[in-house]
Amino acid sequence: MTAPAAQLSPVARDELPTHVAIILDGNGRWAKARGLPRVEGHRRGVDSARAVIRAAAQAGVKYLTLYTFSAENWNRPQDEVATIMRYLTVYLKRECPVLNENHVRLEAIGQIHRLPDDVRNQLNKTRAALAHNQGMTLILALSYSSRAEIVDAARALAQKVREGAMEPGEIDEAAFAHHLHTRHVPDPDLLIRTSGEMRLSNFLLWQLSYAELLVTPVAWPEFKAKEFRAALEEYARRHRRFGGV
Ligand code: IPE
Ligand code: IPE
Ligand code: MG
Repeated sequence: MTAPAAQLSPVARDELPTHVAIILDGNGRWAKARGLPRVEGHRRGVDSARAVIRAAAQAGVKYLTLYTFSAENWNRPQDEVATIMRYLTVYLKRECPVLNENHVRLEAIGQIHRLPDDVRNQLNKTRAALAHNQGMTLILALSYSSRAEIVDAARALAQKVREGAMEPGEIDEAAFAHHLHTRHVPDPDLLIRTSGEMRLSNFLLWQLSYAELLVTPVAWPEFKAKEFRAALEEYARRHRRFGGV
């Protein structure tokens, strides 16, 4: 059972981000610095995912999006891609009971059709097994490209206008957001990027418009519950103005 959030998190509930998005970066560099193959960084990164998901659920975060694999990541060496896909399948199967204990639901965004069959099948199984949960929603961004998502939304809206189901004047921000993969999810309040790079790498470009940004030098394989809680504390100290005063 998950203990009540108040006992575990130092961050008051009203200062807690509803939605945290993470660009989990630095697996390869972490491994290389230790004379290990890059994929060893990915293997260790799975432990960080487990720790951070649990910490987020226990803190009372409602949505956690993990940028797990980008559409651009298909361009990596074939054996690295294959290993990441294998870890993903193993993770989705093995962690299902742990996610369930933490009352976590699972969703995925991205070009899911491009994933290998075994990843897609396991994703569907795990998602179905967790569908009844009422706690945090974990969203995995898989083969995700924000620009592709935006283009798809524009195309879907154009199609509706052509079919006469919509007037061009009805296309507003809400209608546009409704055609993104994140249509049922509030925008992220906090974006964390591990391993120091100051860039978005084609992640949630629309949805991050007003997110607080936090880049930590810590590599993803070293980023655990303590680092995640420190990020929540940093967020609680920020003043969001949304263009106001
Ligand atoms: C993040 O770590 C994991 C994925 C992008 C799949 P990297 O593999 O990008 O590690 P670095 O950035 O090369 O160190
Ligand atoms: C971003 O990391 C993608 C994921 C974390 C899945 P990358 O390592 O692919 O990004 P770049 O290449 O440094 O921009
Ligand atoms: Mg990287």
